[in-house]
Amino acid sequence: MIPGARIVLLGRQGAGKGTQCVRLSRHFVVPHISTGDMLRAAVREGTELGKMAKAIIDAGGLVGDDIMVGLVAERLEADDARVRGYILDGFPRTVAQAEALDGITQKRPIDAAIDLDVPRDLVLSRLSARRVCRDCGANYQATGSETGQWTCDNCGGDVVQRDDDTPEAINRRLDLYETQTQPLMDYYGATNRLVRVDGVGAPDEVFARLTVAVEQRR
Ligand code: AP5
Ligand code: MG
Repeated sequence: MIPGARIVLLGRQGAGKGTQCVRLSRHFVVPHISTGDMLRAAVREGTELGKMAKAIIDAGGLVGDDIMVGLVAERLEADDARVRGYILDGFPRTVAQAEALDGITQKRPIDAAIDLDVPRDLVLSRLSARRVCRDCGANYQATGSETGQWTCDNCGGDVVQRDDDTPEAINRRLDLYETQTQPLMDYYGATNRLVRVDGVGAPDEVFARLTVAVEQRR
């Protein structure tokens, strides 16, 4: 049987968390729990949470800690996460969220927090070129030569730019990362749970580094 894993994936916006989590989730047979995807689904469905979160997300801000902790706590209670584990993408991103996660996972602690390290100038160019499928969430990089309607290779859905991939929102998200999320490196480092993985290189190379990091820690 393939052993599961309980992993937090940290890294700047555009570091490739979403891209790599899809692969890691398949490889380790654990759910990919992305708080960004959960919020975007709530926006699409027009729930109360979605209505509240839309303006915050589009402006590149952070949704309140209490709401995010409640959302993740409920998701981690589901059978798949309890039995196999999970890969958390986009949570925690404040020290308060990390402390809450330690409380939630007291009985089954995380194996490691992985920092997918990509410099700011490189993530800026990746985010400006990112396009996503509105239906299945697959990621693409625009080359500038695309014309007309872009359809997804996986599901045939519309491929569009995310509403928060504007220059203003990208800069705000990256600034918030430095002030709010960077302190998590010390938080996890101090308890010997932090693993740094170089996120620069082809997606296959980065994936190989990540699988080694997970296998060494779980
Ligand atoms: P979220 O959806 O988590 O967005 P984010 O943090 O801005 O991160 P990204 O999704 O932009 O980056 P990524 O690392 O996943 O990069 P990707 O794989 O797409 O959150 C959205 C919003 O929700 C937040 O701003 C906030 O408002 C709210 N929110 C979510 N969680 C919250 C929380 N816990 N607390 C409070 N608020 C919360 O890759 C980027 C591009 O690069 C893609 O085009 C991809 O194809 C390309 N790429 C990937 N890897 C490579 C590679 N190796 N080489 C070249 N290109 C690559
Ligand atoms: Mg993402």
